[in-house]
Amino acid sequence: MLVNSKELLVKALKDGYAIPAYNINNLEWTRFILEACNSDKSPVILSVSEKTVSYFGGYKVVHSVVNSLIDELNIGIPVVLHLDHAHSFYSCKSAIAAGFTSVMIDSSNKTLDENIKDTNEVIAYAKEKNVSVEAFVGTFDNHTNLNDAVSFVMQTGIDSLAPSIGNEHGIYKDKPNLDFELLGSICKNVRIPLVLHGASGLDENKIKTAIFCGTCKININTDLQIAWAKAVREYLEYNKDEYDPRKIISSGENAIKKVIHQKNEIFGCKNKA
Ligand code: 13P
Repeated sequence: MLVNSKELLVKALKDGYAIPAYNINNLEWTRFILEACNSDKSPVILSVSEKTVSYFGGYKVVHSVVNSLIDELNIGIPVVLHLDHAHSFYSCKSAIAAGFTSVMIDSSNKTLDENIKDTNEVIAYAKEKNVSVEAFVGTFDNHTNLNDAVSFVMQTGIDSLAPSIGNEHGIYKDKPNLDFELLGSICKNVRIPLVLHGASGLDENKIKTAIFCGTCKININTDLQIAWAKAVREYLEYNKDEYDPRKIISSGENAIKKVIHQKNEIFGCKNKA
């Protein structure tokens, strides 16, 4: 069932666990993620970037794939279809028109006032369609300023906020050093669900501390990509003559599912569907 993320995140925040947001890269990954989370009885957020939308062939294609898989595979968990890091109102509008249930408007590279203006434009459109909205304050190079986060939330009424606390997308260049004190202060002052981007490569202790400090949506992409690519390389090493794309792509299925089960255990989201 496709739902927005509002109630899922509020419940997770209240009960001290996090909903996983896994990026989908193609049809097969979408199936792997849905099956793994369904067997864990965990709600899941399927995140798609603007670039991935183009890779799939458009917003309607993504929505049809996700919706049809939920139906054909009898997926019984709540599933959120989320547009990740949208850089324009137009992208958010296209996603919502196609049936996405959640969007992130990312105007974090603009001034705070412009970020607020862009976010409010998206909220006005999304609220009418019962779609949840996430926004980002700060940049990956600069930690979020607490006062900015508070005034942003007060002036927008967003459903969830992604702060910058030293987290990075992709493989961490140095040992991750997250500012949990800042995260805890933001949580105490804004009192809405917080989102951790760039959670691949963070150990169990850091993830659990982030959840303790108010994070209830955790984004994972790179860890699944690394696990899948390693398994596919190994498969091709031992099956040099294989050319069936179904076998090649599926050779990473177990590796992806294993990572998902491990993450879901750490996030505390198993049996919460
Ligand atoms: P990673 O690729 O570092 O896991 O980050 C995913 C993410 O935050 C997507 O927005």
